Amino acid sequence: MGFAPMSVIELVLVLSLSFFHGGEGVLSTLDGPFKPVTVPLDNSSRGKAVDLSDTDPVVQRVVEGFEPEQISLSLSATYDSVWISWITGEFHIGYNITSLDPKTVASVVQYGMYGLPITDEATEDQYKWLERDLASVDREVTPWLVAAWHPPWYSTYMAHYREAECMRVEMEDILYKYGVDIVFNGHVHAYERSNRVYNYTLDPCGPIHIVVGDGGNREKMAIAHADEAGNCPEPSTTPDEYMGGFCAFNFTSGPAEGKFCWDRQPDYSAYRESSFGHGILEVQNETHALWTWHRNKDMYNLAGDEIYIVRQPDRCPVESGGT
Ligand SMILES: *[C@@H]1O[C@H](CO)[C@@H](O)[C@H](O)[C@H]1NC(C)=O
Ligand SMILES: *[C@@H]1O[C@H](CO)[C@@H](O)[C@H](O)[C@H]1NC(C)=O
Ligand SMILES: *[C@@H]1O[C@H](CO)[C@@H](O)[C@H](O)[C@H]1NC(C)=O
Ligand SMILES: *[C@@H]1O[C@H](CO)[C@@H](O)[C@H](O)[C@H]1NC(C)=O
Ligand SMILES: *[C@@H]1O[C@H](CO)[C@@H](O)[C@H](O)[C@H]1NC(C)=O
Repeated sequence: MGFAPMSVIELVLVLSLSFFHGGEGVLSTLDGPFKPVTVPLDNSSRGKAVDLSDTDPVVQRVVEGFEPEQISLSLSATYDSVWISWITGEFHIGYNITSLDPKTVASVVQYGMYGLPITDEATEDQYKWLERDLASVDREVTPWLVAAWHPPWYSTYMAHYREAECMRVEMEDILYKYGVDIVFNGHVHAYERSNRVYNYTLDPCGPIHIVVGDGGNREKMAIAHADEAGNCPEPSTTPDEYMGGFCAFNFTSGPAEGKFCWDRQPDYSAYRESSFGHGILEVQNETHALWTWHRNKDMYNLAGDEIYIVRQPDRCPVESGGT
């Protein structure tokens, strides 16, 4: 499981399609912070599914050099330029699509050079690029700021638990300062949504972190939680070599004070479930976005998790350069 570089996406989406009846009765982040919920693994839902072996041709990838495999990469010319910032104005989705007039559709893509590890000078470049980029967003025009990168900061699964602490320690402050609304991550093969959090503290102006690494993976699903008995890794075993070495520290306050793991689902984790699925973010206006997560095993109109993510620009003023 490789390290995928960070990308930052600024999105203004106006979606008129509604696939599910979100809305009525759906809680919002204003109702939070929520008590942590864990939905236990439903092992029966596997049915007769079998894992393909590594040698199965379906599993074996035939990639010749650099291939655009995901949005951040496909927008880059080469694989050493993959920090992506993307402002989306308008787009079409559906069956009978006509071309948009390029003169009226603003889609601004910016990218910077990427370097490893993220704690040395290369990082400094990345940090500066990110700060410049975040500062350039006029939130009157582009209210929603969504950041996406591969390894999560706020995951409570045992797999990859707190591996990216160096990155979090270095970069969390600017995401907070510029009012990033939502962070999407993968890496952990399960689903988890956080409460609003900053520096491990519940904070009404911190981003919501959503781990949607549950697209399906032959490396199997993540099931064990770091807060379950016997599952807390020894801190020095956790850093990922690509992610800057060792930065993990024990918690300094709260029920987990002095320890590396909680002994129950942490308060920053609102909902977690080990089931493969996918999510839809429907940005409705400048303050409300409906996030729904759907288990693959369910019918499409059934959401396993849904929440209105509500921005509060008055309560949480953000630095904005504007243009
Ligand atoms: C799920 O079920 C399979 C067999 O059906 C079993 O081998 C596996 O250990 C179970 N996994 C868990 C986490 O219970
Ligand atoms: C697709 O759009 C064209 C042109 O607007 C229209 O003539 C056609 O009927 C549409 N087809 C469908 C299936 O909606
Ligand atoms: C984050 O919390 C730690 C203690 O848990 C503290 O040492 C550090 O200064 C805090 N960082 C920020 C940016 O507030
Ligand atoms: C951090 O917590 C772990 C247990 O979670 C413990 O083994 C370790 O000694 C602690 N480290 C420090 C510096 O307190
Ligand atoms: C934004 O959308 C939400 C949810 O649909 C709605 O309740 C709210 O009134 C809307 N706000 C504005 C300013 O349109």
